[in-house]
Amino acid sequence: MVDKNFGVVELSFSFPTEVVTEGKTSVVVPKLEAYVKEPWEYAPSKAPVFYNPVMKLNRDVAVLALQAHQSTSGREISVCEPLAGCGIRSVRFAMEVEGVLKIVMNDINPKAVQLAQFNVERNKLVERVSVMNEDANLLLSRYAAPRKRFDFIDIDPFGSPVPYLDATIRSLRNGGLLALTATDMAPLCGVHPRACVRKYGGKPLRTEYCHELAVRLLVGCLTMMAAKHDVAIKVLFSHSADHYIRAYALTRYGARQADKSVQTMGYILHCFTCFHREAIEGMSSPLKRKCPECGSKLNVAGPLWLGKLFDEDFCSLMGKAAYGRRLKEKRVLKLLSLARNEIEAPMTYYAVDKICDKFNLPIPPLIDVVNELKSAGFQAVPTHFNSRGVRTGASAKVMKESVIKCAQIHKDVFDQ
Ligand SMILES: C[S@@+](CC[C@H](N)C(=O)[O-])C[C@H]1O[C@@H](n2cnc3c(N)ncnc32)[C@H](O)[C@@H]1O
Ligand SMILES: [Zn+2]
Repeated sequence: MVDKNFGVVELSFSFPTEVVTEGKTSVVVPKLEAYVKEPWEYAPSKAPVFYNPVMKLNRDVAVLALQAHQSTSGREISVCEPLAGCGIRSVRFAMEVEGVLKIVMNDINPKAVQLAQFNVERNKLVERVSVMNEDANLLLSRYAAPRKRFDFIDIDPFGSPVPYLDATIRSLRNGGLLALTATDMAPLCGVHPRACVRKYGGKPLRTEYCHELAVRLLVGCLTMMAAKHDVAIKVLFSHSADHYIRAYALTRYGARQADKSVQTMGYILHCFTCFHREAIEGMSSPLKRKCPECGSKLNVAGPLWLGKLFDEDFCSLMGKAAYGRRLKEKRVLKLLSLARNEIEAPMTYYAVDKICDKFNLPIPPLIDVVNELKSAGFQAVPTHFNSRGVRTGASAKVMKESVIKCAQIHKDVFDQ
């Protein structure tokens, strides 16, 4: 392969590569098609260096979030990506975000480091971006002293980010922003509940809103880890997409603030019979309770984060960053617009298809259900977490009645 910046790239690497463009950045990555022998094989984990094109949305959002964070700081900022793979994320940060003074990226895999370094040189970033080759926790710990710490750390691991939380909190400056990806959705969504309790210190539940619970469990774990260091957490943005969740949390030093974060922890109780759910504040495990709507046993998720999952100012700044870049990516724009509606919306959502399944009804358009709830005087908004999900202040009973009514109208229109 010939690269217009660097001539023949294959000479530099012992594996097949290709040039890809993401955002405004072009980098050399492993040629994934060379590693898929069967259609069901997952190419990113077969390649000698990690690169996953599906995570483009994750990186697009990270660029906007970093720009939003930089604009609030009013100065040039430092960034660390301790698990960088081929380096595409950090190179994008350096190329696409204004006000980034320096970036330290790192990977334990020497081949990844070689490719990342090549991408740094290819994009003429050597003065601002350094590439290291060590264990992520060792690297982070070397930056854990005052005046060495970073303004932004992006943890994008295989599976769970939990093994890196402690070192990340220690190497983030007061007011720094932390971004976490978790791809271990089976534990977080309740398929392997024991693994979730073990890793995240909270119990998951396989409900229709398990992806929101997953974010709350991840942030809950972060909150308790940060509190040990007298560091408080404020979630500025979060999202769920494809096979992962992501959370952006601001940190603030101070024992009293950290106490307040811990007070934001609690439990969500769910009734699998009638869809009722409720939140219980506080860390002490809730007593066994019966559903107030139908009398069935309530199931418990948590302890987890009960606080906000989005911040209004931060969402506007991300929107501004997208606008400034004339961003055309429909998925990102849709995510931003849905998230903005969710800022002040109630916790958890109902899935219209799940209710229809239970009553053997056709699925009405989501917008009909939202409008029906609104006309009955309830707050109702769609959620980015689930394309058939509605956040509403209405009870499970009212929600079901609204869905049944809309489904009936929908069926009648269809039958005509
Ligand atoms: C999911 S990939 C990173 C993808 C990258 N952030 C991106 O946006 O394309 C995870 C990376 O972590 C690296 N890794 C795994 N364990 C590590 C450790 N203990 N220290 C540093 N890097 C590690 C792997 O080699 C892999 O490249
Ligand atoms: Zn019930």
